[in-house]
Amino acid sequence: MKDCHNIADLRRMAGRRLPRIFSDYIDGGSHSELTLGANESDFARWRLRQHVLRDVSTRDLSATFLGASHALPLMLGPIGFLGMFGRRGEVAAARAAGAAGIPSCVSAFAIRPIDEVARENPASTLYSQLYVLRDRALTETLIARAEAAGAAALFLTVDTAVTPVRERDARNGFRNLTRPTLGQWCNILGRPSWCWAMTRDGKPEVGHARAAGFGRGVMEQAGNLARQIDPGLSWSDVDWLRRRWPRKLVIKGILEPEDARRALDAGADGIVVSNHGGRQLDGASSTIMALPAIAEAVAGRMDVLVDGGFRRGWHIALALALGASAVSVGRPYAWGLAAGGEAGVARAIALLAGELDSTLALMGLSSVAELRAGGGSLVHFN
Ligand code: FNR
Repeated sequence: MKDCHNIADLRRMAGRRLPRIFSDYIDGGSHSELTLGANESDFARWRLRQHVLRDVSTRDLSATFLGASHALPLMLGPIGFLGMFGRRGEVAAARAAGAAGIPSCVSAFAIRPIDEVARENPASTLYSQLYVLRDRALTETLIARAEAAGAAALFLTVDTAVTPVRERDARNGFRNLTRPTLGQWCNILGRPSWCWAMTRDGKPEVGHARAAGFGRGVMEQAGNLARQIDPGLSWSDVDWLRRRWPRKLVIKGILEPEDARRALDAGADGIVVSNHGGRQLDGASSTIMALPAIAEAVAGRMDVLVDGGFRRGWHIALALALGASAVSVGRPYAWGLAAGGEAGVARAIALLAGELDSTLALMGLSSVAELRAGGGSLVHFN
């Protein structure tokens, strides 16, 4: 890990270790990948203000969001198939997050189910991500499992009414993974450290789907689970979920101020301003451009988290100045996991934390709280 000096280094190392079919699955987005690119490139449309001579010798990076104090204004967001990128991926990620004092969210498409992740990480804050399925009784079972596992918050993902074509996955035959072509076999066998890690993990399965009897192979389970995601979802289902779920409820996938206000009316405790990392509506706004209007509409009445394209500490500082309570990352830690297991996830978190710390100091600020209080006066649109 010592050769990885930024998130891009972790990405390169992950690309060398993972079979192409998985590195493309992580890196890719939908259709022309315009939104995927905009998530990263739109940060450059903003600038931070530099103030000097303000005694920044002690600094506090802690932040409060979703009802608890955390070491950083950062969380690990839900990533499907994590257990295919590194050994016991979901457990390793939660462990690294817990050690860094930040929460992590277990995906509905996790290989290792949340009960196991919770059992192995008793001291860390876990969240659970949910898709509402056509079968509401099954959805209830998933909610009950998250509750029993002690999840502090439920993240309802709402930007997946349908799944658009992700062309890299289509070309690679991602859905036919269980029947690799000769070319895929050659690529897979050329990644011996990954093969070894996976062999030790046993047969991969999507934890939730296995429990629901959704088939035997990981791809069959994932496909059947994906087909169960209910495109008929509406705000009345959010009301239902609010009544059903006693802890923090977060709506993930908000890009419009009007939808943020509706989430507030529905009793959500927070939202994630998200376009699913550019994997859903291609042509949608980047999240850093969508954030200011949403934060203004919410006006501090619930937590506004944001994800998409965060690769640098200064990106996190910018989002906090624009009204976010915290930032959620996806690919940075998935690359970390693929590059170096739990140590790689820890490295991803440490890199972002270190960069955030120096950014604060050079802006003339001593704490994340000051950054949030300073708001828009600390940044400008370029
Ligand atoms: C995701 N994301 C996602 N979101 C979700 O709610 N449930 C899921 O199962 C997944 N799975 C998933 C897999 C992979 C490989 C990626 C890259 C993303 C979206 C994720 O939670 C988050 O919104 C984005 O990853 C944020 O963008 P960055 O940080 O990856 O740029």
